[in-house]
Amino acid sequence: MFSNRPLILAPLAGITDSPFRRLCKTFGADLTVTEMISAKGVWYGDARTIALCDHHPEERPLSAQLFGRDPEIIRAAAEFARERGAAVVDINMGCPIKKVIKTGAGAALLRDLSQVTAIMRRLSRPPAIPFTVKIRSGWDREHLVADEVFRLAAAHGARAVVCHPRTATQMFSGTADWDYLEATARDAPLPVIGSGDIVSVADGIRALGRAGIAGLMIGRGALGRPWFFRELRQGIAAGTETAAMPVAAGERFAVVMRHWELLAAAKGERTARIQFRKHLGWYSHGLPDAARFRREVFTAGTTAAMLELAATFFNPA
Ligand SMILES: Cc1cc2nc3c(=O)[nH]c(=O)nc-3n(C[C@H](O)[C@H](O)[C@H](O)COP(=O)(O)O)c2cc1C
Repeated sequence: MFSNRPLILAPLAGITDSPFRRLCKTFGADLTVTEMISAKGVWYGDARTIALCDHHPEERPLSAQLFGRDPEIIRAAAEFARERGAAVVDINMGCPIKKVIKTGAGAALLRDLSQVTAIMRRLSRPPAIPFTVKIRSGWDREHLVADEVFRLAAAHGARAVVCHPRTATQMFSGTADWDYLEATARDAPLPVIGSGDIVSVADGIRALGRAGIAGLMIGRGALGRPWFFRELRQGIAAGTETAAMPVAAGERFAVVMRHWELLAAAKGERTARIQFRKHLGWYSHGLPDAARFRREVFTAGTTAAMLELAATFFNPA
């Protein structure tokens, strides 16, 4: 009954790179989002920032997530991302980390809704750029602003708002407050995508049963588990968790190896090896002897040794 509502891969800085996005896409993610990209970095032509816009055509439609504060700079970076192939840009208004907050970007914007308005106004000025915004519920419990942002975003032509219903000061502690999200999304004048703590098919079904939730964004629940999108879709279509076919060992092994190939091709062997270790850790989650496997992977000195360990651990044959 909910199968037409989008399931979106969340932006996770340092993690949801092009290879991982491609994997999630093959398992049915409707939309993927780049890691957060500094609008200022794009503006100044910083090569590493610009590389974050790179993607494979298979990933499309893609959303490019920008963080920044200055409406002109964000507009210019958004135009750049669109030229590079992003279907839509998402403005980060939820990042709670100090480095971002102190520049007045990310969740700091939730304390300054006039700046939020200025950014949206600049993006919507003709020719309008298709955009969404991603927020937390507010700066802290005393200043919840999701309903106000929904109203502003609708007034300025945003396509949707993604809300992770934790406050900025909460960081990642506690749980996402879906009751608050439902209470505000219920009458929102635009589509609201919910993000936070969706780690099982039952979580997804429950979240989509809430009033006003137009779709789901999945972050940590997809780590080491890109097939979660397929499981969710199956479960949602049937309305029951038991309809979701768990991934078989053979397929898991094939996905792990495909992930390695994509990562090595995108980043070169050395960088890929370092980054792949953490993915192997996530893939091993919940499997027998995973702690020993993770220890061995982190001390493996070469790519060949790491892949050998993975082949032994994941290969069902
Ligand atoms: C390691 C990590 C990196 C993140 N990076 C970003 C980011 O770059 N941009 C953003 O909007 N949110 C970011 N988030 C927040 C997620 O997109 C998401 O909203 C949040 O993790 C809640 O969803 P989840 O419980 O499904 O992970 C990050 C979260 C984590 C754990």
